[in-house]
Amino acid sequence: MLDIYTIGADVLRGQAAPIDKFDDELAAFVETMFVTMKQGKGVGLAAPQVGVPQRLFVIQIDGDKPRVFINPEIVETSVELASFEEGCLSIPGVYADLDRPAEVRVQAWNERGRRFVLGAEGFLARVVQHELDHLNGVLFTDRLPERSRDRLLKQYEKRMRA
Ligand code: NI
Repeated sequence: MLDIYTIGADVLRGQAAPIDKFDDELAAFVETMFVTMKQGKGVGLAAPQVGVPQRLFVIQIDGDKPRVFINPEIVETSVELASFEEGCLSIPGVYADLDRPAEVRVQAWNERGRRFVLGAEGFLARVVQHELDHLNGVLFTDRLPERSRDRLLKQYEKRMRA
């Protein structure tokens, strides 16, 4: 299991680099990502969250298969928005409702270097967008209105001190 970096760590704020080697080392890293994500009781985990600034994230939501996204790109988003409550393993213990596009079409590669295009809706679409943000140095709190963000971050800091 890997350590999860929390808000304040520089690695969470950079642009992650594309992956160009699809080898056994990458496959092993993906396995460890899943273990770490499950240990943290998360539904998604992006490589920068474990200190690796590369364009990769994993997702497993209840009732769905484990999914790996390498060098992902959103190629289409719905105009329609949906509201879901978000949390993040890098800002543990705080949650907030957030609007984002309800559906996205994402292109990515799996750990064996196979390209796929996925049309995602509902909670999966939400998690894909949250994780993809991590590859661009964006945390969900950045997308909240300033007052809710301040309130949430204060709540988080208080939790951390307790
Ligand atoms: Ni997150």
